Amino acid sequence: MIPKYIKGNTFLQWRKEMILKGGRKVDFDWLIDFAAGISWSELQNIILNPDNFFSLGIPTEELEAIWHSHLKDQIPLQYLISKCPWRDFELEASVGALIPRQETELLIDLALKKVANLKYGRWADLGTGSGPLAISLAQSLPDWEGHAVDISKDALQIAQRNLKYLVPNTNVKLSLGDWWEPLKRFWGSFDLVLSNPPYIPSDLIGDLEPVVKNHEPLIALDGGTDGMFASKQIIIGALNGLAKGGWLILEHHYDQSEKIIKFMKDIGMEEVSFEKDLSGIKRYAICRKQ
Ligand SMILES: C[S@@+](CC[C@H](N)C(=O)[O-])C[C@H]1O[C@@H](n2cnc3c(N)ncnc32)[C@H](O)[C@@H]1O
Repeated sequence: MIPKYIKGNTFLQWRKEMILKGGRKVDFDWLIDFAAGISWSELQNIILNPDNFFSLGIPTEELEAIWHSHLKDQIPLQYLISKCPWRDFELEASVGALIPRQETELLIDLALKKVANLKYGRWADLGTGSGPLAISLAQSLPDWEGHAVDISKDALQIAQRNLKYLVPNTNVKLSLGDWWEPLKRFWGSFDLVLSNPPYIPSDLIGDLEPVVKNHEPLIALDGGTDGMFASKQIIIGALNGLAKGGWLILEHHYDQSEKIIKFMKDIGMEEVSFEKDLSGIKRYAICRKQ
């Protein structure tokens, strides 16, 4: 980072001008936090001490150019600065993979609770994208063997770089292919499988914000006519793929809980349950193979 010293007053005036240009204040403050190192608490410090000088990670001109691109072309800030914070690490973010979402972070907490008493095991992350779930599992379950699968070559390359950088000596294997297919030789041996599959019904894709529908990969979003095409394939595959007693935990759209839970039960899964996200929405479906 190139530190640039700037007086608090000058910075606050500039920030006001940038926010007046449009966009959401919360996004601008996210940008100055993750691109220039001005966290929320640092910002409060500047507001309280406007006559002090402080250092900015990158010059205001560069931040301004990023903000303009975001406003003009609705490009996600994470793609413009090539990074995205997720749980306790920062991932490379680029156009080949979905930007990891905050609600997906909870999948890890749910998973770690389910396997708390297993020192060794085998996990899979189906549809790894840039690899957030795989990285977290590799960090939290260092003695396990991990498999991350995606059908997108671009996404898998990003996941590979993220894994290499964040968990350099990890035992995670990356496979290109369709959900369970590349893992055939391990079928029947997975103790834990996580997935955040594409789950938006096709006819709702057009209603998404331009910042999402015009830039994030369609293959990461579109869940087919009912939004559950991928989820059903993953659940069906789990009948063969999971070990006896193995867990499958899926994220889904805000209104799919009942249908996915029913599908899991109908297909013969055990210990089927749901969990809510931080907004109180039923967002995760859990089941176990008997
Ligand atoms: C919603 S994104 C989730 C990415 C990542 N797990 C995350 O939470 O940020 C879904 C991912 O599934 C992948 N995908 C879509 N269809 C697939 C298929 N048939 N087989 C494997 N992966 C697939 C997409 O490329 C995308 O990376």
